[in-house]
Amino acid sequence: MPKILAPTSAGLAEATDMLRRGGLVAFPTETVYGLGADAANDEAVARIFAAKGRPSFNPLISHVSGLAAAERIALFDERALELAKRFWPGPLTLVLPRRPEGGVSLLATAGLDTLAVRVPSHPVALELLGAFAGPIAAPSANPSGKLSPTTARHVAEGLGKKAGLILDGGPCRIGLESTVLSLAGARPSLLRPGGVSKEALEEMLGPVELAGEDSAIQSPGQLASHYAPHAKVRLNAKEAQPGEALLGFGPLAPAGTDLNLSPSGDLLEAAAHLFSYLRKLDQSGTDAIAVMPIPRHGLGLAINDRLKRAAAER
Ligand code: TXA
Ligand code: MG
Repeated sequence: MPKILAPTSAGLAEATDMLRRGGLVAFPTETVYGLGADAANDEAVARIFAAKGRPSFNPLISHVSGLAAAERIALFDERALELAKRFWPGPLTLVLPRRPEGGVSLLATAGLDTLAVRVPSHPVALELLGAFAGPIAAPSANPSGKLSPTTARHVAEGLGKKAGLILDGGPCRIGLESTVLSLAGARPSLLRPGGVSKEALEEMLGPVELAGEDSAIQSPGQLASHYAPHAKVRLNAKEAQPGEALLGFGPLAPAGTDLNLSPSGDLLEAAAHLFSYLRKLDQSGTDAIAVMPIPRHGLGLAINDRLKRAAAER
């Protein structure tokens, strides 16, 4: 069983230390328990995906202690400021343009130019965010495909030791995930209904579109696959052809490999580097990227899923 900590000052200090060292901490919010990691640390964020066992990378919510901290990682317009002042702390997640200098891991945003951010209202979450003094990336603290946890015990039962530490803040008051509202497009769109109602948002914004099947707006799942390199991507390459940049993996990468996702062949390290290395090679101006084979187990599944889409989307 994972270690469950009471939210005393000693418990919070241990949890903060765990986050600083790149480890995982499950913590209570008013909606559901989150599985948190230092949002600025690529490898720590990769650990979240490994623990959840998800075969693809979904962008994660960055949790912050207040509006000032949120403005350091995302760009707020007037509407976003008004919403934040009205609904934070609380169960509203805003999808906004990402500030590249904000330092949030590209893996946490699945390579997107937008970023999801919220200020939770649970006192233990706010204390942890205050003590850590940086954004905490956190999806719901359940294994992929299972129900979201609303008690520390649910987290322990679902994730076991993979949860790292669990801060016990009692049962979650709302028990349903936050509302996800995108203000990154031309019109506000509701990507996920949740703790703040559509009506409450519409009081401030006017009509809000619900992303869904018969809507022109993309659902979060589709958005998650939105980042594709400009360069062509060729998979399972042994070496680069003329004009290609080589994205290597493992100790057998040939001399002249442009970037190696993990020279030692470590999938966690490879996941941590995936989006930033794709971007770097893209920005180098190459027309094509050849990628060496990546094993299809553990985080390799999600890496291969991402690369397959990058190779197909044209
Ligand atoms: O209540 C909650 O929101 C909980 C607590 C822990 O805060 N968190 C949560 O996280 O439910 P998660 O990862 O299970 O759901 C995050 C949702 C996903 O639907 C994801 O696609 C969407 O937010 N999302 C995150 N970043 C996005 C982005 N840049 N663009 C569009 N959707 C995004
Ligand atoms: Mg979830």
